Amino acid sequence: MERPVFRVPRSRAHETHRALRDEILAALEPILFDRVSEGAEVRRELERAFSAVVKQPFACAVHSGTVGLFLALRACGVGRGDEVITVANSDISTTGAISMCGAVPVLCDVLESDYTIDVERVEACITPRTRAILPVDLHGHPADVKRLRELADRFELKIVQDAALATGASDYQQPVGAFADAAVFSFAPIKPLGSVGSGAMVTTSDPEVAERLELLRGYGHAPVDKVEAPGYQNYLLEGYNVPLDPLQATLLKVKLPFLDTWTQKRRAIASAYAEGLRDSGAILPTFRPESNPTFRSYTVRVADQQACHEALRRAGIEAVLHYAPPITHYSVYNASGKECSLPGASDLPVTEMLAAELLSLPVTVELTDGDVQYVVDTLCTALGV
Ligand SMILES: Cc1ncc(COP(=O)(O)O)c(C=O)c1O
Repeated sequence: MERPVFRVPRSRAHETHRALRDEILAALEPILFDRVSEGAEVRRELERAFSAVVKQPFACAVHSGTVGLFLALRACGVGRGDEVITVANSDISTTGAISMCGAVPVLCDVLESDYTIDVERVEACITPRTRAILPVDLHGHPADVKRLRELADRFELKIVQDAALATGASDYQQPVGAFADAAVFSFAPIKPLGSVGSGAMVTTSDPEVAERLELLRGYGHAPVDKVEAPGYQNYLLEGYNVPLDPLQATLLKVKLPFLDTWTQKRRAIASAYAEGLRDSGAILPTFRPESNPTFRSYTVRVADQQACHEALRRAGIEAVLHYAPPITHYSVYNASGKECSLPGASDLPVTEMLAAELLSLPVTVELTDGDVQYVVDTLCTALGV
């Protein structure tokens, strides 16, 4: 099936890549044509640069956000029979990563304001089996992880933050991830910092978590000081082979210095949407004063979601319904189509309401003022104003 060409797409990253063509090609040159070891080295360089940007001492570049969440949970000690508190308005990767560890996702409702986990409701989800909390920075809106930290410390729980959509965002004047035991940033193509394939970074300030991440990423292969004799192999655990591909790492290394400028641009686009839609009848997200989001998309709420979505798509605007329905409706968690088997699933009134109303508008740094105005005008018409 031919892919539709949108007048206002979710991503025009190729335009940015064209603008950076010389830098990208120059950076790829040694990876492709020099020593084999350059691949690992460029990954390390990206890790160092990303560490500095998010102000975390350790960064581990891995194959994808999905894998990053799984490794982060494992590195934080989550295993079979444990419970992990999370949300139902996320990508399947979030709950999937928990289940891959043999743990059980326990679902907590979210806030109507910025769509992130409702911290007030988390304590009621804690049981003797709870091992960790996995908040999601949905659409790039920081969850209140500083407040979660207090709760987690009181109950001796770990926090793995799903910052897949939030690269560039900050909270309480710290880059997102600062209050978590580990945070995961996705580099999938339509993300605030996108590669052209898969990729992610897991960050932490805990050296033990960092060491376990490194092992899990690379087969569990022991460093040279932990082998019986020179040239021998040793494995400290059964790990995986899931490092970030060096070609993606190279592209990301060229793009990373622009992250701050692009985050500002994303915020400016979000402000223009907010201004344009102020009297439209759409309900706009609102944020805690400390929260400084980035915007993977600008997600509003509308009464007739399906009609607005259709009207925008017909007009060539790549609006999406992320994430609808809540994961509790997916066949994998709800074989009967009536009742989801995950704990907490029956008590998510805000999640359910948001999923029926949300509408995500395109945010990509290449959008012009004219593009944004076109989206605003089209949505206003669909809303009858
Ligand atoms: C909230 C959230 N978490 C995790 C992921 C998984 O990231 P990846 O696609 O890099 O595996 C996604 C991907 O869209 C996401 O939106």
